Amino acid sequence: MQPAVIAPSILSANFARLGEEVDNVLAAGTDWVHFDVMDNHYVPNLTIGPMICEALRKHGVTAPIDVHLMVEPVDRIVPDFAKAGASLISFHPEASRHVHRTIQLIKAEGCQAGLVLNPATPVEVLDYVLEDLDMVLLMSVNPGFGGQAFIPSTLDKLRQVRKRIDATGKPIRLEIDGGVKPDNIGEIAAAGADTFVAGSAIFGKPDYRAVVDAMRAEIAR
Ligand code: DX5
Ligand code: ZN
Repeated sequence: MQPAVIAPSILSANFARLGEEVDNVLAAGTDWVHFDVMDNHYVPNLTIGPMICEALRKHGVTAPIDVHLMVEPVDRIVPDFAKAGASLISFHPEASRHVHRTIQLIKAEGCQAGLVLNPATPVEVLDYVLEDLDMVLLMSVNPGFGGQAFIPSTLDKLRQVRKRIDATGKPIRLEIDGGVKPDNIGEIAAAGADTFVAGSAIFGKPDYRAVVDAMRAEIAR
């Protein structure tokens, strides 16, 4: 398993002062910036695009930017995010007609590639493509909004995907996204996740470092 990564979802940040929020959350001991892109088509919400990603890079953010695309179609926005400074780009297989092609496109653009499984998407979608991926992202809520409750069946799914990843022998990350909090992150880590997205749990509290420290303590338990 890879070293644990905490990736705060800026969906729950104060967008009126985004640069400062990202600086503060990274200074609080987080590792990546989780960047939720919604198009009011694949999901019923509308958020941020490549211009904001580029603005964060210009602001001086050097941490990996973990772009979670909830858009359809996928391929035409991939080069824009690569140019804007994305490090990883993850997408939903339901939103791409040619999943294998999209993975290769992301890598050809110089980014790491992730595939996102919704709560009802079977793990078999990983057949034939798992070894091409740098990350599998399991959604533990339905995509579209922050602040939803963790869906408990995701724990079993994490265990299944962990086994599949370990069987490849490759350093593929297993990310969890949705409803992650200090009081459930321990069992999520035990089920096999190594990369933890958290939005409302961090940005909803005044002391980001206290939340991040509590999360790390639970992961290490
Ligand atoms: C939901 C997004 C998540 C969301 C997580 O579609 O992919 O990244 O912001 O927010 P919390 O941690 O509040 O569930
Ligand atoms: Zn996300």
